[in-house]
Amino acid sequence: MCGIVGAISKDKNILPILITGLKNLEYRGYDSAGVAYFENNKICITKVTGKVDNLVQKISDDDSSKIGIAHTRWATHGKATTVNAHPHKVGHITIVHNGIIENFEEIKEKLSQCGYSFKTSTDSEIAAALLNYYYEEYNNIEKAIESFMKEAKGSYAISLLIDNDQNNLYCLKKESPLIIATGNNFNIIASDIRAILKYTNKYYILDDFEYAKVNNSEIIIKNSKGLVLNKELKEYTHENKENSKGHYKHYMLKEIMEQSKTIADTAIPYIDDGIASLLTMPDLTKYNAIDIVGCGTAYHAGLVAKYLFQEITNTKCNVYLASEYRYQNNFLSKDTLTIFISQSGETADTIAALKLVKSNNLPSLGIINVENSSMTFLVDQCLYTKAGSEIAVASTKAYTAQVTMLSLLALSHAYRNKTLKEKEVLEVLKEFKNISNLITPLLDKKNIYQSIAKEIYNEDDIFYIGRGLDYVLSMEGALKLKEISYIHSEAYAAGELKHGTISLVKKNTPVLCSATNDKLNPKTVSNLKEVLARGAKVYLITDDSYNDPAFNIINIPKANIFIKPLLIVIPYQLIAYYTADLKGTDIDKPKNLAKSVTVE
Ligand code: F6R
Repeated sequence: MCGIVGAISKDKNILPILITGLKNLEYRGYDSAGVAYFENNKICITKVTGKVDNLVQKISDDDSSKIGIAHTRWATHGKATTVNAHPHKVGHITIVHNGIIENFEEIKEKLSQCGYSFKTSTDSEIAAALLNYYYEEYNNIEKAIESFMKEAKGSYAISLLIDNDQNNLYCLKKESPLIIATGNNFNIIASDIRAILKYTNKYYILDDFEYAKVNNSEIIIKNSKGLVLNKELKEYTHENKENSKGHYKHYMLKEIMEQSKTIADTAIPYIDDGIASLLTMPDLTKYNAIDIVGCGTAYHAGLVAKYLFQEITNTKCNVYLASEYRYQNNFLSKDTLTIFISQSGETADTIAALKLVKSNNLPSLGIINVENSSMTFLVDQCLYTKAGSEIAVASTKAYTAQVTMLSLLALSHAYRNKTLKEKEVLEVLKEFKNISNLITPLLDKKNIYQSIAKEIYNEDDIFYIGRGLDYVLSMEGALKLKEISYIHSEAYAAGELKHGTISLVKKNTPVLCSATNDKLNPKTVSNLKEVLARGAKVYLITDDSYNDPAFNIINIPKANIFIKPLLIVIPYQLIAYYTADLKGTDIDKPKNLAKSVTVE
């Protein structure tokens, strides 16, 4: 993970570029930050723990430089301390690094024998030392970079400064994203073009095993053998809306509240002209099976799709966590379509799984939110969700946009393979057109969610249960609560509790449940009775007409199976939000997390 920026200018102070870039890259991590720049022929390094704002406080208005590098960190090797924060300086070389040097122990051992000693617990300091080692050997930074590339295993996007060279920045890349943007008398290195769009939208994308020498007027990109490459200059033309919280206390709340719109925006191209528009969805009838791959919330969206594909369209569908998919026998087949789901389009595990499918020449489809992100260039075909930019680390509107896209994909398949009649498909489309009227009243039940939050926010353990689709939704509910409130919450298939976990249910343990399946509801209610009998407090989200006073009931409207998940999740999101708000956690940037998980 981590975000890196480097900037060089002929005549302007680059510190504002570095700070703006870092702030925009905080979605990649925010546990510590640092900057290194030349001032009066000397490299000055400032590092802090915590967010970029803490770094800003350490930089005075008088500080100025025309060349520098900066970093915002998500700790992998070594705690989030000032000493472990980047930049790391070893000998003549100062670097910022994103990625993981997998053979760092081996390199450390070799360098220790050559007299190097280390101050930090990071793999990045070892990378700096290895670059310095070869720099001293060849007295040539390019040769040093090429040797580094031969030796270092794992992933890296590195930007570096060399002592006594105020005219050049260098950068190198393998498996972690890196771009070099160019402007009038200045150039910027960054993890992501969107982070520096305030300054320029023209950029080069570095590919694996490429490096560059960057000065204020020239960018020279080479491959690992030192051959100069003629790379395409790209232009980022997508809208880059300034994002503010508006009157909301947190981005997460704003994003939850935007969902009637973002679901509608995602659905409209496929519903506005009835069946004709639905049939612009990719035709899946040529495949025997569908595999879905994603992480976290995106994986949960995949589980909803599995239910729809298997139960409604009678099509075999498996869903995999990307981090597992990579290392198992997937019985790859050209008759299987693999769908990759990602908000960011940058998640390392999902990208690696996608590369695996591609290397076997097998078909892939992306459901991705961020335009021009790495995955969009790798998939055979991409369906863009229209969630807009999601700033809060906990995903809400991206999830409902993913579920919307997958539901419509399953619906189009049901039409094509005739598992649903045209009349039934039209009914669903009609409900999709009415989605705002179903969602808005649920978003408005603030008092109910706040009163539940008050009852549960001091608890240590909370269980989420359900059956079928309701179980899949409970997984997303439990994830939302734990990531922002830090309360231990787990989802279980309702029928599974009695096979072990019910031993943890005691007096007042909150059990949150959704029951929206007429056939399964009686069974789920029996499971609720079982936990009630052990003293649990039950909160039930349902579209059924229960009035048992032992249950705290949150009613949701009756809806088609393709729409239902979009309704069930709203109370779960808002209960998580208000619970975290009562606990006073940093809701938009919860501890230990990052918005984009770019390491394996
Ligand atoms: C949870 C959350 C994460 C992401 C996961 C995948 O709220 O946001 O679980 O869903 O890291 O990220 P993307 O969708 O960017 O691949």
